[in-house]
Amino acid sequence: MEILISRDQIAEAVARMGQEITRDFVGESVILLGVLKGACLFLSDLARQIELDATFDFIAVRSYGDRKDSAGEVQLIKDVTTPLEDKNVILVEDILDTGLTFTFLRKLLLARKPRTLKLAALLDKPTRRLMPVSGDYVGFKIPDKFVVGYGLDFAERFRNLPDICVFSEDSGK
Ligand code: IMP
Ligand code: MG
Repeated sequence: MEILISRDQIAEAVARMGQEITRDFVGESVILLGVLKGACLFLSDLARQIELDATFDFIAVRSYGDRKDSAGEVQLIKDVTTPLEDKNVILVEDILDTGLTFTFLRKLLLARKPRTLKLAALLDKPTRRLMPVSGDYVGFKIPDKFVVGYGLDFAERFRNLPDICVFSEDSGK
């Protein structure tokens, strides 16, 4: 598969995002809230670039199933286990695409009354947006191509690729 973003470029962007978060929350604690499963590799690298008192939690949603196009609805599969009230919550997402997932999660999480809620998204496909949302910390803006690797899947596969690649139909064989 064609590499869109190499592991070195990913590492550089993740380090930059970690510095931005560290600078914005200096002297405070943060909860890194990863959206399973796609964000798990990104969260584990990003966390090591954040020089703050930090804890992890995870939430799981389903929006795509085994398809490349959004199902248009988001379902909560697993909720957080820590209270978020008065906490600095950084939602960690692999990719901001239509914005449906973030819109759903933002509403759910704001109801828990965090002190702040920010979105860190490694990738952003701004041309695909259906909802008026944007990331606070973004690694790369990418064109409307379906990508896999570094946590991102097609039908649960290719999450373990170290680079972000453009998915092509014949690479599934
Ligand atoms: P949104 O709700 O459309 O913003 O989509 C967010 C979710 O869609 C992400 O967390 C991914 O799981 C999935 N997604 C969107 N674009 C891609 C892609 O290019 N490759 C793999 N997954 C994607
Ligand atoms: Mg997915």
